[in-house]
Amino acid sequence: MISIAMKRMLAGFVTGLLCLPFAQGRAAIPDGKEVFQRNCSVCHSVNPPPKSAPPVLPISGRYHMRFSTKSAGVAAMVAFMKAPSKQTSVIEPEAITRFGLMPPMTLGDAELNAVAGWFWDQGGSASGPGSGRGAGQGAGGCN
Ligand code: HEC
Repeated sequence: MISIAMKRMLAGFVTGLLCLPFAQGRAAIPDGKEVFQRNCSVCHSVNPPPKSAPPVLPISGRYHMRFSTKSAGVAAMVAFMKAPSKQTSVIEPEAITRFGLMPPMTLGDAELNAVAGWFWDQGGSASGPGSGRGAGQGAGGCN
């Protein structure tokens, strides 16, 4: 005879098993969204209103206006995150006046590339993300 408590435990166990492959996949290749939530979301909201930095969507839009390919936009973002400066800033100068310059990020290249790719994918859907990555990310409710 299986008690209700046992059934609950079993259900939890099965859910855990189903989620396991996804959790492992994420550990291998950094998930841009996770990197964002851990390292950037203290300052950056995704949509307006801003926290202590411009939100992701307008920033992404700016990068789409300035760069025609994702790889060029991501490379510029990664370079900026390592050493932010007014000269290399792509967004409107008023943002730096208002929020101050972003502090340099001390993440590895894999994380920086992942999060920059995620930033890029948030905006400019009109031009088409090309690689198709990013769609359906975060679904599944395993967190
Ligand atoms: C301590 C607060 C803070 C954190 C943490 C932070 N940012 Fe920023 N970020 C800012 C501010 C302020 C600006 C606007 C001024 C500027 O561009 O430097 C900014 C601007 C940016 C820009 C636009 C750069 C430009 O001027 O062209 C990008 C891209 C960006 N952040 C990405 C990130 C990513 C990705 C992370 C996490 C890995 C992150 N930021 C973490 C404060 C932060």
